[in-house]
Amino acid sequence: MQRAATYFVTTPIYYVNAEPHIGHLFSSCLADSLARYHRLFNRPTLLTTGCDEHGQKVEQASIQAGFQNVQQFCSTNSNKFRLLFDSAGIDYSTGGFLRTSELRHVDCVSSVWNRLSSSGLLSKASYEGWYSTSDECFVSADDLVRSEDPVAGKEKFVMRETGQPVELCSEVNWLLRMNDLKSEVRKYLTSGRVVVPDRYSESALRQLNSTPDTLSVSRPTSRCSWGVPVPGDPSQTVYVWLDALCNYLTCAGYPNHLRAWPPTDQIVGKDILRFHAIIWPAILIAMGLQPPNRIICHGHWLCDGRKMSKSLGNVVRPDEDLFNRLSRDGLRYALLRSGPVTGEDADFQLARSIHTVNDELVNCMANLASRASSPKIHRRSLPPVESHKDLLRHAANLNEHQFVEQLLNLSDSLHSQWSEVRIHHVADSLVSVWRSANSLFDRWHPWQLAKSDDAESMSKLDSLLVLVFASLRLTGLHLTPLCPTLGHRLMSASGVDKSDTVRFDSPIDSVLLCPRELAAPSASREHLIERREVL
Ligand code: MSP
Repeated sequence: MQRAATYFVTTPIYYVNAEPHIGHLFSSCLADSLARYHRLFNRPTLLTTGCDEHGQKVEQASIQAGFQNVQQFCSTNSNKFRLLFDSAGIDYSTGGFLRTSELRHVDCVSSVWNRLSSSGLLSKASYEGWYSTSDECFVSADDLVRSEDPVAGKEKFVMRETGQPVELCSEVNWLLRMNDLKSEVRKYLTSGRVVVPDRYSESALRQLNSTPDTLSVSRPTSRCSWGVPVPGDPSQTVYVWLDALCNYLTCAGYPNHLRAWPPTDQIVGKDILRFHAIIWPAILIAMGLQPPNRIICHGHWLCDGRKMSKSLGNVVRPDEDLFNRLSRDGLRYALLRSGPVTGEDADFQLARSIHTVNDELVNCMANLASRASSPKIHRRSLPPVESHKDLLRHAANLNEHQFVEQLLNLSDSLHSQWSEVRIHHVADSLVSVWRSANSLFDRWHPWQLAKSDDAESMSKLDSLLVLVFASLRLTGLHLTPLCPTLGHRLMSASGVDKSDTVRFDSPIDSVLLCPRELAAPSASREHLIERREVL
């Protein structure tokens, strides 16, 4: 049998100048859920994440925090990201958690530099421009406004959108010639649905039009020493974005054997689209490597209508309290089923997230599982379900064809939703199955069927339980990418046993059909997920 190609997904790497917030967690949850979805089909996956530790921004933050040693500051803060991802169930075991200060990465950046240098696209020259340390890039004068709070006697400019200060720098840099690369990038961006959602594809093309013909790819060491030295030129440090983008190559094994390339999906927030949709492909094309298959761009989580930022003080931290309030899987679910996934910005409101978790996971899903496991309607064993035909037979027994059709179509429709990264629709489809299954109870009153001992009532009760448990097993499997623990709990509470997963070719059939005796009822509502407290 041919082995499926590796699904290779990346998260951005996070600046360690500040502690993680829910926006960062969201980017990683998105990548993790996609990887977990692909794993349902036994496809090998590679998920990479990590921290962006070099550059002026991090160096300045380390000084401000009173650290003598930047490396120590980075270790402290990158550890917070790693611990957060561990507690949120972000499984980076396949591709690793990379820190740009690691030696393997420094080696990779040096190799990339040498390759670019041998392509003849680099040259050293004077460069003048406005540098924004908060964005770690030169910005156009159009993005600036005069500061309302000028330093005495001096005109000062700040970024129009964020109010962050900029500095006029006139310095010698290594420059990458972009003219030819830009037309290659245009071809790449228009070669299919490379950037999704579509509106970000248009935005990437617009940004390409305004990309200058040269790109500064180093900074004088006198200005920025915390980074990778330019090979053969100790007076210069590799530009932090070039350094950071190389993380994807380091994780894939560069400059040695690449265990997978190109990435299948790269997750980015809309603020870093330009770096990933223009500069990164340009660098890869210059190196003779393939750019990523797809760039998935998401919107931002806002707080009180504004992008979260340390300076505005409106940051929502995924701390122990937030995890306790929503539960780990509840937090993942609330983040993944909302706005930013579609590319929109969305305000994070704890009360709304609690309501979503209670309404959909507790009232719909857990309630269904607990109703189905009630001792009042428990049957020692259910009729075996060996094929879709068996399911249809039970549907006919109850005249509930629509429900079984919904079940049999679920995997295909979820497949297209995952492919289009419409995760909010994935959640909608699961909720819709739980609602339909709950309404079977309202129509069939199984507790009354269980009381009347005649054969017909028993046969109806059997059919009802067969259908409901099939729906719980199947939705449990499909819930695992969003809520790994909850999905597995639901599967085991509805009778999926490890041995079942080898009985059928497809993992979907193995849970949908899996004929076996039901153990004692085990799915009390609280066993799955407890009701979250409303504030
Ligand atoms: N270090 C760079 C990325 C280098 S990737 C080669 C960086 N780091 S960051 O920490 O500022 O942002 C990392 C990711 O978090 C980005 O995708 C960014 O869009 C995302 N988020 C940061 N704030 C966010 C929200 N408020 N909401 C959603 N995601 C946002 O940029």
